[in-house]
Amino acid sequence: MEPIQIADRIHWVGALDPDLRDFHGFEIEAGTTYNSYLVVGDDSVALVDGVNLAFVDELLDRVARIVPLDSIDHFVVNHVEPDHAGGVARIAEALPNATVVCSAGAGRALPEMFGPDFAFSVVGPDDSIDLGGATLRFLPMPMVHWPDSMFTYVDGAGTLLSNDAFGQHLSAEQRWADEVGYDTVLDHTDLYFANILMGLKGPIGKALERVVASGWEIDTIAPSHGVGWRGEGVALILDHYRALIEGEGDGSVAIIHSTAWGSTPRIAERIAARLEEAGIPVRSFDLGTSEKSAVTLAVMKASFVAMGSPTLHVAMLPSNAAYFQYLRGLKPSPKKAGAFGSYGWSSGATKQIREGFETLGFDVAIDDLEVKYRPLDADLPVIDAWADLIVDAVK
Ligand code: FEO
Repeated sequence: MEPIQIADRIHWVGALDPDLRDFHGFEIEAGTTYNSYLVVGDDSVALVDGVNLAFVDELLDRVARIVPLDSIDHFVVNHVEPDHAGGVARIAEALPNATVVCSAGAGRALPEMFGPDFAFSVVGPDDSIDLGGATLRFLPMPMVHWPDSMFTYVDGAGTLLSNDAFGQHLSAEQRWADEVGYDTVLDHTDLYFANILMGLKGPIGKALERVVASGWEIDTIAPSHGVGWRGEGVALILDHYRALIEGEGDGSVAIIHSTAWGSTPRIAERIAARLEEAGIPVRSFDLGTSEKSAVTLAVMKASFVAMGSPTLHVAMLPSNAAYFQYLRGLKPSPKKAGAFGSYGWSSGATKQIREGFETLGFDVAIDDLEVKYRPLDADLPVIDAWADLIVDAVK
C-alpha cells in the first residue's frame, strides 16, 4: 500500500494489520491499523507516532518513498504502548538525525522501556516545533489512554493527531470515516471505546474540554487506529464521544449466560422473551460462543445486566469468572444487575455472580433467581416474575 496524503503536508505512512484478532484480550473483528503520519515542512520534517515492532520495515519503506530517512528531524511519540511504541527504538535508529519528542510521562517510560541511554526531548502545551509552513503543537492527555498519552496538532494543516482517541480497531485502506461509511465506523468506534476506553470517561471528558479550550481550528482528526474524521465528521465524532462519556444506559438489558447442560440458557431465553413482550430491548450472549468484546459493548449500553450460570463445584462457571476479570479492568459505569442460574445438588453460582457485580460497583437490584435442575412448566411463572422485576427496574 502506498503512502496517502491526508492533509496539506501530512502523509499517512502507517501499517495495516488486517489479520489481528486479539488485542490484549479485546477480540477484534476487522484487524487494526497503526497509523503514523509524516509532516513535511519547508524547513524540517517530523514523523508522528510509530508502529508495532513487526511493522517497522513497512513504515520506514513508506517514509522513504516521500523523503530520505536522514532528512527527518523530529520523531514524535504520542504514546508508549507497544502497538505504537514497540518499534520506537528501531525507528529512532533508522532516523539518524531525528530527535525523539514526547510528553513528560513518556519521558519517564521510554528509558524504562529502551534503556537509560535512550535520548529524547520532552514537550508540553507551551512548546511548539516550527517545521516551516506547519507548526507542531502538543497537549498532554494523561489516561487517554495511558499516563504518557499526548495529542499533537499540526497548525497550518488544521489536523489533530489524536493517537488512541477517536479511533477504531479497523483495518481499512481508506483513511476517512466518510469513505467507509459513518454507521460502520461508529459501530467500530463504540466497540473500541467499550473495550479500551470505557473506564477512562473522566480523563476523556477533560481531553475534550482541553481541545476546545485550545482554540485550535480542527478540520481533520487523524487517530492512530482505524480511519479519521474530516468535514462534518469532526463534529460528528466529537459529539459522539460526548454522548459515550455521558451515556448511562439506553434502557436495554444485557443477558449474559454460560451453560453446562442447557438449563441456564432456557432460563435466559424465557427472561428475554418476557422482557421483549414488555418492549424492553434485549441483547443476549452465551459466554461460551460470544466474543467478550461484543458482550462488553452491550454491557456499556445496557441499563440492566442479568448474568446467569449453572453451579459447578459450588461456584459459577470459569467463563463467568473470566468475564468478570475482563470487565473489572474496564470499569463500566454502575448498572442495575441481577443473578440467575440453575443448579443440581448444590447452589452457589448466583452468590458469586452477585459478588462479582458488587465488586464492579453494580447495584444488585433484585434477589437471585435459581432453578433446580431444569426449568419445568411450574418454574416458568417464577422466571416471568423475576423478569418483571427487571422491567420495573429498567422503567
Ligand atoms: Fe493504541 Fe493505548 O495504544
